[in-house]
Amino acid sequence: MDYTLIDSGLGEKLEQFGNHTIARPCSQAIWSKAKSKEDKWAQADATFNRKKGLNWSGRDALPEAWIVDINGVKMKLSTTDFGHLGIFPETFELWTMIHDKITRSIKQNSTPNSSFNFLNLFAYSGGATMSAAKAGAHCCHVDASKGMVQWAKENAKINQLEDHPIRWIVDDVNKFLAREIKRGRKYDGILLDPPSFGRGKSGELYKIEYALTETLENVKKVFSNKGGFVLLTSHTPGFTPTVLSNLLSKVFPKKSLKKGELLLKSDETDTLHIPNGTWACTE
Ligand SMILES: C[S@@+](CC[C@H](N)C(=O)[O-])C[C@H]1O[C@@H](n2cnc3c(N)ncnc32)[C@H](O)[C@@H]1O
Repeated sequence: MDYTLIDSGLGEKLEQFGNHTIARPCSQAIWSKAKSKEDKWAQADATFNRKKGLNWSGRDALPEAWIVDINGVKMKLSTTDFGHLGIFPETFELWTMIHDKITRSIKQNSTPNSSFNFLNLFAYSGGATMSAAKAGAHCCHVDASKGMVQWAKENAKINQLEDHPIRWIVDDVNKFLAREIKRGRKYDGILLDPPSFGRGKSGELYKIEYALTETLENVKKVFSNKGGFVLLTSHTPGFTPTVLSNLLSKVFPKKSLKKGELLLKSDETDTLHIPNGTWACTE
């Protein structure tokens, strides 16, 4: 595993991605930093801050791109102007959960002509798509950003999945789902990680509080309901695990649900976990 959360505090987090240590803003980390880790902060290769606009220092010390291994999934990292690197480490546990659920489902239902169809909505650089593909699922990867879909395709290549059945779709999620409903397409496992605010391919406004109900109603119509799952995640402030499970319960009233926090974690016992989002999933 090429990721470690080293420390956090005073509104920042210090993380190691492969050989590179990077300090970035973290508004939840309102506690103090660990004294024992002061020198590690001082030795950070690069720092991103939002104090006067969006600023990197030490960006040149990092390679243009590098590859990390996250529990067997390889991901290309690169610094972006917004301080993102191409992965959200709090979602790693969900990648494993998706992999395990699909592996189990394929074992239980294996008939020669059936495949497990996985749909990744707001799919970003495709960590969950890679995990699902590695478990043997046929995947459909949807994101409105052409650049992010290109990045995810590169990740597929790095993972030797370029010949795996993955449909790459650059489109607005709600428009895509409306088309899939008309075509009668069904998916056995669906992940959706809607942004608080986003834009579709043609600039369509996506505001989570207005658009998510429509998305979930559409998700219901493309869900095969054959023992798979719908997993909803969020990074929007106030969208607690209970908010997400309430939303899923409205659409899937008969299903039992699990829910939890997305955490940035470290194996080091003296490093605090950082809450960074929430999830809820149908059982
Ligand atoms: C929060 S990120 C998803 C993170 C990703 N699931 C992960 O954990 O790595 C949001 C993504 O949604 C995409 N997006 C925003 N609005 C969209 C829309 N209306 N339709 C499709 N994708 C959209 C963005 O391009 C971005 O890649």
